[in-house]
Amino acid sequence: MEEKKRILTGDRPTGRLHIGHYFGSIQNRVKLQDEYETYILVADVQALTDNFNNPEKVRKNVREVVIDYLSCGINPEKTTIYIQSMIPETAELTVFYSNLVTIARLERNPTVKTEIAQKKALFGESVTYGFLGYPVSQAADITILDGNIIPVGEDQEPLIEQCREIVRKFNSIYGEVLREPQALLSKAKRIKGLDGNEKMGKSLGNAIYISDSEEEISKKVMSAVTDPNRIRKDDLGNPDVCMVSYYHKLFSTEEECKTVCEECRAGKRGCVVCKKQLINNIVEFLRPIREKRAYYEAHPEIVDKILMEGTAKAQLEAKRIMKKIKKAMKLDYFE
Ligand code: TRP
Repeated sequence: MEEKKRILTGDRPTGRLHIGHYFGSIQNRVKLQDEYETYILVADVQALTDNFNNPEKVRKNVREVVIDYLSCGINPEKTTIYIQSMIPETAELTVFYSNLVTIARLERNPTVKTEIAQKKALFGESVTYGFLGYPVSQAADITILDGNIIPVGEDQEPLIEQCREIVRKFNSIYGEVLREPQALLSKAKRIKGLDGNEKMGKSLGNAIYISDSEEEISKKVMSAVTDPNRIRKDDLGNPDVCMVSYYHKLFSTEEECKTVCEECRAGKRGCVVCKKQLINNIVEFLRPIREKRAYYEAHPEIVDKILMEGTAKAQLEAKRIMKKIKKAMKLDYFE
């Protein structure tokens, strides 16, 4: 087993990335790529598990997500970005692993359980085999590239735990071939939505996207939820229940945040002024990202080249590791 630490993580390409992703994971990945060998997969096969009826959406978002990565500072010289479906060994390995996992264990996985409950409209009373089994496929994603540090949000932790169980079971039966991965939990808190919801999410319609234009940002911030008890400007406000004040903490200086809170509590600051200041700071924060985005949008051939090269590199590595796995499983017939 190799000693070298290798980061492996990814996203389902079901939409563009928003600032919840940025502060929750992307910013951290940009930092980690300087220290560790990093692989990021665009999980198109996993996206299909709950979007099997919408392949166009998945296809379109593969490039959108990669453009978001590059715009935010993921550097293809340091990070290998690749497409999950182009690593066929993952599908093979998923089948091998499916013998090592019980249906009851999958049904108990807290992440899967929550998601199934949220997707009643898609699945009705009976979930698909593919969706129930996606943790098995995710275990294959991780181990086929020997990923051992997996930076994920808390909601993904049960998936990494399940991967660890599969690895231990595999090693106990076929020999010590696989390395047990570790979740690296993001310290960043989940970013709340514009409507005050605990989670910013594309399906919730409460997100500010990394790719949003100045007008979109402005419109969204103007409609953000503020202290409902504050009707007139000189009413004493409570910034603790105001989403504008919440986002100031992400995008404004400490000094500005202090002033925002003090003036709001004293009834000396109108919400419109406060929102305009926030809009300006978000726009400035996202400006370099937006400029890079415009560059990549104008040069799709560069994006494709990065994806092709990353995928080719991941393919070679997956082939190498699959050889070891097949040997251990006595499936190496003509070697
Ligand atoms: N489940 C992850 C998400 O929904 C995406 C993903 C697929 C992933 N394969 C992975 C994350 C392997 C980490 C490691 O965002």
